[in-house]
Amino acid sequence: MSNPSKAELIHMFKGIPFTTRSSPELLKSLDTFDAREDDVLLVSYPKSGTHWLAGVLTKLYNTQVTLTSPIEFGDISKLEELNKLSSKRIIPTHLDYNMLPPNFKNKKCKMIYISRNPKDTAVSMYHYYRDNPNLPTIDTWTAFLDLFLKGDVVCGSWFDHFLSWEEHENDKNILFLFYEDMKKDLPKTVKEISLFLGLNVSDNDIQDICKKSSFSEMKSDTEKENNDPSHTVCALTSNRKLIFRKGAVGDWKNYFTPKQNRRFEEVFNEKMKLSKM
Ligand code: A3P
Repeated sequence: MSNPSKAELIHMFKGIPFTTRSSPELLKSLDTFDAREDDVLLVSYPKSGTHWLAGVLTKLYNTQVTLTSPIEFGDISKLEELNKLSSKRIIPTHLDYNMLPPNFKNKKCKMIYISRNPKDTAVSMYHYYRDNPNLPTIDTWTAFLDLFLKGDVVCGSWFDHFLSWEEHENDKNILFLFYEDMKKDLPKTVKEISLFLGLNVSDNDIQDICKKSSFSEMKSDTEKENNDPSHTVCALTSNRKLIFRKGAVGDWKNYFTPKQNRRFEEVFNEKMKLSKM
């Protein structure tokens, strides 16, 4: 049997490529979503450490919380499903700021945005595309990088996504985190998150959360949980084994040629000229 074509797997909504796992009806109805003041949003461009942060967040609470699948993932029944949840909701999303349901903004819900060196994000996404039958076939790294730089990948341009959120980095209800900082000093980031969320977490608990959130622990948990598709916060797969690949900083150096690196830097400098990054 031949692989499904790109047209069968991807559709465009407001100029951004989504997989067919996000139905157009759901995307259209997001504007009417009824947020709750105590919702916490976990925002990321794909392959930036979403699952890692989700693992940390769920361990920080000692009350009942529900980590949902991304708000943009599913069909029209999704909003009703989220409405029915009685516990506090941690809601992941890969939406850019402009597409976020306005209710989250009006109610000043807490949002945590995690970002990662886009070169490592590109490499991680390349592997994800290659191994994931829900995404279009990719022939080579070179071909993928080209698509990534053009923003012709799921969730669109990394640059546009980052810039749309960076504009709001001083909003009091938004916390910006970097994957690389989590790798460098996870306890410090966990402390920062707990203060932001107003949670009282002891240093001992923080150490314990960090231990349980290490790459090796999370990967081995996945191997145990892999049969349960509800254990994924990713819109693009129910196979958690695809998520925990290498978990390293700087893997891009194993993929980028010097010429590709120069081209990436050119696009980065051009696109990000108004960014503080
Ligand atoms: P790599 O493909 O570079 O290994 P997301 O959750 O947004 O899809 O991001 C997935 C990336 O985060 C993968 O990167 C994955 O290995 C990495 N990751 C997941 N859990 C991690 C952890 N506990 N520590 C470090 N990296 C982690």
